Amino acid sequence: MDNKTAAVKMRNITKTFGPVVANDKVWLDIYRGEILALLGENGSGKTTLMNMLSGIYFPDEGEITIDGKEVVIRSPKDAFDLGIGMIHQHFKLVDVLTAAENIVLGLEGKLDLKAAAEKIRSICDAYGFEVDPNQKIYDMSVSQKQTVEIVKVLYRGADILILDEPTAVLTPQETDKLFAVLRNMRDDGKAIVIITHKMHEVEELSDRVAILRHGQFIGDMPTKKTNAQEMTNMMVGHAVTLNIDRPEPKDARPRIEVKNLTVRSIDGILKLDGVSFTANSGEILGIAGISGCGQKELLESIAGLQPVESGSIEYIEDDGRREQLIGKDPLSIAQMGVALSFVPEDRLGMGLVANMDLADNMMLRSYRRGKSFFTDRKSPKQLAEDVVRRLDVNTPGISTPVRRLSGGNVQKVLVGREISSAPTVLLTAYAVRGLDIHSSYTIYDLINKQKAAGVAVLFVGEDLDVLLELSDRILVLCGGKVSGIVPGRGAKKRDVGMMMTKLGGDRQHA
Ligand SMILES: Nc1ncnc2c1ncn2[C@@H]1O[C@H](COP(=O)(O)OP(=O)(O)O)[C@@H](O)[C@H]1O
Ligand SMILES: [Mg+2]
Repeated sequence: MDNKTAAVKMRNITKTFGPVVANDKVWLDIYRGEILALLGENGSGKTTLMNMLSGIYFPDEGEITIDGKEVVIRSPKDAFDLGIGMIHQHFKLVDVLTAAENIVLGLEGKLDLKAAAEKIRSICDAYGFEVDPNQKIYDMSVSQKQTVEIVKVLYRGADILILDEPTAVLTPQETDKLFAVLRNMRDDGKAIVIITHKMHEVEELSDRVAILRHGQFIGDMPTKKTNAQEMTNMMVGHAVTLNIDRPEPKDARPRIEVKNLTVRSIDGILKLDGVSFTANSGEILGIAGISGCGQKELLESIAGLQPVESGSIEYIEDDGRREQLIGKDPLSIAQMGVALSFVPEDRLGMGLVANMDLADNMMLRSYRRGKSFFTDRKSPKQLAEDVVRRLDVNTPGISTPVRRLSGGNVQKVLVGREISSAPTVLLTAYAVRGLDIHSSYTIYDLINKQKAAGVAVLFVGEDLDVLLELSDRILVLCGGKVSGIVPGRGAKKRDVGMMMTKLGGDRQHA
């Protein structure tokens, strides 16, 4: 690192928001021809630091140099002029415009869309992107929108690229594609900074890591010289264990019985095709499948949020009485003890009211009879305080409006809220999407405690390694059909992966 001039040097950068010190005298160097992973727990100041490079925030103190020259970045335009481009967590594209129109939007000079389309194609060819310049944004997948954002900053000549949790919204296949492009850009001499919480991505992609904790710079090192355990310890500030417990289920009894469930989307596409299985109390049933295989429809059918074409979903009470859930409204199902926590790609759209504070958001949830993991029937205020403490939610207090919290913290509130609602059935999907590694393990631990308390857990996650470690049984979906149900203990990643992509034949029961 020493004989290369840093593309960017940040020195003594401090940024406060009222009482919050988001960045505290941070030093950071960024080099060309290198991919730097910027690491830290949720709320450690990563986005704030990068926003000062991209002209969104202005530092209270400190200096920034680009290629050895001190600069002042007062606006996104200043950043662009210095060759800095940032791809934000929340995209800033205009839905009704095409890719090309979005890419040239706001540029000075005469608008020549044909020339623009030409230039876009050449950028795509150079790095291996696939973008149709004439496609409207509203017709695009999340991954396509992200590609447009990246092409947009390259179009403006960026050679220092910052990507803020780009893979949080991508499937593993899309992530592979993105990484191939980023490597091309690195080899082309660009400086790349990526923020991600996924350790295997850090290890696979980055050349160097830099770690922030509570707004302070903790250290940096070549990725090859460190490992997930050391990086996590540095992020958290003390040693943490990265194991997921899997206690044997106790008194597992059938709680939800699904038979021949068939669901179609509004446009008539078959989403679930004759799905049958039983979910037991005191057990974690993992649901594996590639995105769009029907996991969402399955959880939403149980929660009463999805019209069902045929089949049966029975809820089995402790005394053996059975109740048909199909036809019941979501509120009645929730009151029976079925909690749904589905973390969407856009985390603010997940059932919290942004202008309300934490305590009021807790109250939105209808509390049912019975005991809560967070102890029974506390006031929403106490409940909010419990969630904040247990999940380490980074907030000035429980009366802070939810919209002021960072995405990861909002999510902890949501997941905490569902867990604390004392369910008998916990339907959870993408619970740790976008959460830092320490928070993720806290969530796994909470889910395990729910299991120990006798809850029937249905766990949908995108990380197959976690699914294999956490689940007692794994139900594999492929194209809306059950391709098998296998015991979690001893299941092989490769086998489950194969069942996710093609039907496994007669392995219907385990
Ligand atoms: N616009 C803002 N107003 C008030 N507080 C903010 C703002 N942006 C960030 N923060 C606070 O600054 C801290 C760092 O946030 P952030 O940079 O988003 O962390 P990270 O990206 O590492 O998750 C957090 O405590 C967050 O709540
Ligand atoms: Mg952030």
